[in-house]
Amino acid sequence: MRGKKKLMSLLLISVLGITAALSGCGKSEQDVAATPSANPSTEATTQTAATDDSHMITVTVPSPDGATTAAGNGGQTGGGESSSAESSEAGTTAAGGQTDVKAIALTFDDGPYTYKNVTNRIVDALEKNNAKATFFVVGQAVNEWFPTDGPEVMKKAVSIGCEIGTHTYSHENLNTSSSDVIKEQVEKGCKAIEDVTGQKVTLMRPPYGNAKQSVMDQVDLPMIQWDIDTLDWDTKDADNTVKVILEQAKPGSIILMHDIYGASAEAAERVIPELIKQGYQLVTVSELFEIYGKELEPHHQYYDARGDRDIES
Ligand code: NI
Repeated sequence: MRGKKKLMSLLLISVLGITAALSGCGKSEQDVAATPSANPSTEATTQTAATDDSHMITVTVPSPDGATTAAGNGGQTGGGESSSAESSEAGTTAAGGQTDVKAIALTFDDGPYTYKNVTNRIVDALEKNNAKATFFVVGQAVNEWFPTDGPEVMKKAVSIGCEIGTHTYSHENLNTSSSDVIKEQVEKGCKAIEDVTGQKVTLMRPPYGNAKQSVMDQVDLPMIQWDIDTLDWDTKDADNTVKVILEQAKPGSIILMHDIYGASAEAAERVIPELIKQGYQLVTVSELFEIYGKELEPHHQYYDARGDRDIES
């Protein structure tokens, strides 16, 4: 009986993991900018997938979001080689903020995910390097999927200075949700975090980066997008994720990753010390905007702290 129960729990975790994994919110800036009327990400498909544990299971998941890699506003002027990141000058592009600090914000979506210690590995890597990051947490993962280990790793993250924002309660596409659902997703999502950390949630990342005007109007939090999309959810390749970050890193950038893949944890373990070696301070999103002298306001969305692509409200 015990064995059977254990197997069932393992399978359940696998199914939840896969559902979360395949609903990853990677999306290019172009897609984010596009009018949200036709959004392919809401279409459910049935796929057969294997966990890294080789459980073959069939689950219904949302289609992955758009997978283009181009930066929407031509932000890449430094060329391709990783050494180009070295030549970035701190603070030169900050409009308004004056800083010589070379700071950057790593962000991780869709966790906490403690199966195979994915989130734990990332938090450990941050601690080891005296670095910080921001986690955009799915409330359901805290309350239902990892109700013991999830809160534990979140508390540890907070204890080393990391920031935790909401990524809704169950990773809904808010652009196609009713006002009632939007309200519930944000409130329940924040409560799941606040119950654990005792701290008020002040940031939100909308699932799939989807926050059209009417969504922003209804949510009393700043929406944090990104300017560097690692596409880690798509490639699940640590080498590629590290390469994208080192090629595109610029002071003031917000980097999108997902703490639900082993490959993303490995990429974090490798890229965190490398960015520090290049002179970067790895800070939370709130700290990044403070450093650049920019205020984060509710009902606005932000892509970086330089203001390269300025606020859409
Ligand atoms: Ni997501």
